[in-house]
This record gives sequence, C-alpha cells and structure tokens, in this order.
Amino acid sequence: ADAKIYTASTTAPVNIAVIKYWGKRDTKLNLPTNSSLSVTLSQDDLRTHTTAACSSQFSADSLILNGEPQDVSGARQQACFRELRSLRAALEAADPSLPKLSTLPLKIVSENNFPTAAGLASSAAGFAALVRAIADLYQLPQSPTELSRIARQGSGSACRSLFGGYVSWEQGEAANGSDSLALEVAPASHWPQMRAAILVVSAAKKGVSSTSGMQATVATSALFPHRANVVVPERMVQMKQAIRDRDFETFADLTMRDSNQFHAVCLDTSPPIFYMNDVSRAAIRVVEEINRLAGKRVAAYTFDAGPNAVVYYLDENEDLVLGSLKGGLKGVPGWRASVTAEGVQGLDQG
Ligand code: PMV
Repeated sequence: ADAKIYTASTTAPVNIAVIKYWGKRDTKLNLPTNSSLSVTLSQDDLRTHTTAACSSQFSADSLILNGEPQDVSGARQQACFRELRSLRAALEAADPSLPKLSTLPLKIVSENNFPTAAGLASSAAGFAALVRAIADLYQLPQSPTELSRIARQGSGSACRSLFGGYVSWEQGEAANGSDSLALEVAPASHWPQMRAAILVVSAAKKGVSSTSGMQATVATSALFPHRANVVVPERMVQMKQAIRDRDFETFADLTMRDSNQFHAVCLDTSPPIFYMNDVSRAAIRVVEEINRLAGKRVAAYTFDAGPNAVVYYLDENEDLVLGSLKGGLKGVPGWRASVTAEGVQGLDQG
C-alpha cells in the first residue's frame, strides 16, 4: 500500500475585530447574531504556522498545538475535517488517478508565536491555518470565501483570517449557514498607513470562553438585542464607508464605541462577565488623552475577550501614539504590528 506522507504547510494571521462578533444564533454551525468586521494583522508579528499531513502510516486523526497533543474529537474540529474531506472525495471521484487522501488519517502540527487563549484571537488564526493547510494538502480549488464557510465552523472569527486587510463576516440568513461567510472589504494596500500596537496586559488564559460568554449574553442581557439588531447593522455600513474613504477619525470613533458596547453587554450579562482589568482601563484613558491633546482621533483602542489592548493608529502618528502609551503604561509590554497585504499563506507542499 501507499505509505507516503503527504504534507502542506501554511501560516495564518490574527485578525482583530473593530465591529465585534458576540452572540450566536446557531451554536452548532457558529452562525452569528450580527455581522462583524476586522483588520488582519501582519504575519511577522502574530500568526499560527500549521503543517497538515496525511498517511496510511498514521493510526488516527491528531492535532498538536505548541507541542501539546489536543483533543480532536470535538464537534468543531470534526466539522472542519469532515467538510474538507468531502471536498477532496469529490475531486477523487471526478479523477480516479488522484491519490485517495480523503480516507487517510490526518496529523496537524500547529505553533503560535503569541500567547494562546489570552484574548489575542488565537483560535481565529488557528482554525484559519488548519483549514488552509488541509485545503492545500488536498489541492482544493475553493476560494478564500468558500473556505471561510468551513473555518467559521471551527471558530467564528476564524472565517475572517482567510483574507488580509479589511474583512467583513456577513451574518447571512440561511439556516444551513451557506451565506454566513467572509468577504474582503478592502485589501491592506488600500490603506497601507494602518498600524496596530498590541499591549500584552496579561498572557494568562482567559476566564470565560467566548462561546460560553456569548451564550450567557444572548440569554440574559437586556441591552443585547438593541446592539445586535439596531446598532451593529448601522455601524457595519458606516465602518465600510470609513475604510473606503480612509477616514481614520470615523474608523477610530466606531472602533472604540463598538469595543465599549461589547464590554457593556458583557457587564449586562447575568452573572456579569469582566474581560477588561484596571490596566485595560488605564490604556483606554491614555488613548482618550492622546486624542484630546491631538485635537482629533489619532488612536483607537479595542479589546476582545481578554484584558489585552490593540491600538490602531496611522504610521504618521507612530511616535506620538507609541511614546504616550509607553509613558502612560509603564511596564506593560507591547509590540507593534503592521497590516500587510497577505491573508493566510500557503508555504511548501509535498
Ligand atoms: O471566534 P470566537 O468564538 O473566539 O469569538 C471571538 C469573539 C471576539 O474576539 C470577542 C470578537 C470578534 O469578532 O473577534
């Protein structure tokens, strides 16, 4: 029998939402209660590197993350494996000369170059890299948008990491999730001056997972329906326009308001969920002060399901923004990321 080990490697970047995904209307398919929009960060700074292999030498599907074996029996991993295998099986059925990879056990090896599960969107890069690596291994012809539908089932926000630049995740209407997918709003080259600073307030694992947090918010927050049904639909339109116009002041205003509203619905959850801490709030004060002194918005903070801050700014204001953050937040390690043209990247294949 064919004992060859087939491999493909890929890297996927982290994306940080400026209009947040928070709330599922279908927990099995990861269908959201509202659309969201994110900026994909540079691969040099925050990324997952993943190699997918398949071989008759392997005894079962496996996944190793940062050197630790992970459970692959979960519904999310299984959904990704199943969908990708069925696309490969269709290719094999159409062309019997292709090796039958769809029936072989998979071995996935993944490394993050940033703290895992600290609210730095590690699951987004992780599932995007997993889906892209297996799609490359299987030589699938599907577009990033088509693959986003599969990555979404691993982790909702992962669907946005299939693209570089400015990316929307359209919530869709279909019950089977066929129209809940990622679209490119603008490539990174559209606004190459955009930068992000990441302030690592804490690298500890987050307290409440995004999945259980979202479900609690949907079930108990009285503010939440207003956010999902009224506020976010308006903001999606405004944010896309701000990006098209390269209007940083509007981009910043919407980004900060949306982060604050996301954390407000977390506080409005019963029992309340706190992701930000005193250092996070100090970062908010520093950014508000930078903008006040500049007389316009030159920096925008946003926080995901953890205490770490991401601050967006334009290259021309780098000294002002990074200098003030460093001065105002002594001892908080931070680093700077650019926003590059690439989304997920295929590397070598063999
Ligand atoms: O993709 P998940 O299930 O890890 O949820 C991510 C939720 C936020 O990061 C808080 C918001 C977002 O849109 O990325």
